[in-house]
Amino acid sequence: MELLIVDDAEEMSEKAASVLYDVIGEKQRAVLGLATGGTPVRTYKILSSRLNRAKKPLDHVHTVNLDEYIGLSPSDPNSYHSYMEKHLFQHTAIPKDQTHLPDGMAEDLAAECRRYEQLINSLGGTDIQLLGVGNNGHIGFNEPGTPFNQSTHVIDLVESTRKANARFFPSLDDVPRRAITMGISTIMKSRRILLIASGKGKADALKELFSGPQTEKVPVTALQSHPQVLVIADKQAASKM
Ligand code: GLP
Repeated sequence: MELLIVDDAEEMSEKAASVLYDVIGEKQRAVLGLATGGTPVRTYKILSSRLNRAKKPLDHVHTVNLDEYIGLSPSDPNSYHSYMEKHLFQHTAIPKDQTHLPDGMAEDLAAECRRYEQLINSLGGTDIQLLGVGNNGHIGFNEPGTPFNQSTHVIDLVESTRKANARFFPSLDDVPRRAITMGISTIMKSRRILLIASGKGKADALKELFSGPQTEKVPVTALQSHPQVLVIADKQAASKM
């Protein structure tokens, strides 16, 4: 694993945007695994501005997101569909039909998980997976205890995750209790991983990633066995390492 410690969230976002920009530029067909949450917002803003400035053709870009809440329609302002639209897709020329997220409204959730996993495989897998990390070490929505060998699945969100994400919703009661998420095994199949972390809240998770034992109790530690991981952390997130 490679670790880049930067001064602050702005520098983290600039560096992360550059990594994604380069992947888009290098590949004949680029499959980007994307993440939500507060951490990547600025990365997406910088990335879309740079792509637009350079008038980069984006017909070869495909995106697959990590997760989506169950029970929120794509048009719900708190869905991850809306998040991606607001923070990235509407600002870029990535063909709409080449952007993918799990369908949190699917009637048959097990079938939706299988469809999503097959979709990623049919694209040839992801070239790079962008990740944030939860305070408890979750990646995507893989909460502590999730078996590392799981592919895309339905997960019950733990209370601390719902509370952490309540800041985006009118109230805690509005935060869904379940989500569809790529599994750890789905994430591990990505050819590269780019994990970004900013702020003190992420310091314990990063400490476990770099010096703790590999354990399903801390999902992010799965990345210890991935051959190509770049972690970009600001000083606060790296403060316990
Ligand atoms: C959510 C997302 C994760 C994200 C995490 C951290 O739970 N499902 O993909 O990494 O939040 O979010 P933030 O970046 O807001 O701290």
